[in-house]
Amino acid sequence: MSKLEQTLSIVKPDAVERNLTENIKTIFLKNNLIVKESKKIHLSKEEAAEFYKVHQSKPFYDALCSYLSSGPIMVMILEGENAVSLNRKLMGATDPKNADENTIRKLYGISIDKNSVHGSDSLDNAKREIDFFFRN
Ligand code: CDP
Ligand code: MG
Repeated sequence: MSKLEQTLSIVKPDAVERNLTENIKTIFLKNNLIVKESKKIHLSKEEAAEFYKVHQSKPFYDALCSYLSSGPIMVMILEGENAVSLNRKLMGATDPKNADENTIRKLYGISIDKNSVHGSDSLDNAKREIDFFFRN
């Protein structure tokens, strides 16, 4: 069953730095995800830590927060049918080495930490993440 959803996408610092934002947006648009709102921001480490707090017990948490706050990011609200799972499919696996052909992470990811994009993993997290960036 298809449902109209919104999800949050982040173009991470490695991809913004390499000017990949437009290429990534084009992949979304070609796959019927429209960009409803977007902004380029540079998070502090504290803000990154708040955003990624679901991962606070993980060994990579500190490096992840340092990385996300290391440079500008582009945050986007994507909208479309089944936007949450469609975006995850277009992103590919967390580790670019394991990502399917033609996914964003396969095309552009450098490593498991510099994997170019973030995408909400559930509808509930999409709502929380959209609120985090756009509703305060
Ligand atoms: O981003 P995704 O939802 O695919 O993966 P996650 O398991 O929610 O992890 C969040 C982010 O942490 C990933 O996108 C990676 O950049 C990073 N990570 C890492 O640096 N090392 C790991 N072993 C796992 C994740
Ligand atoms: Mg995740």
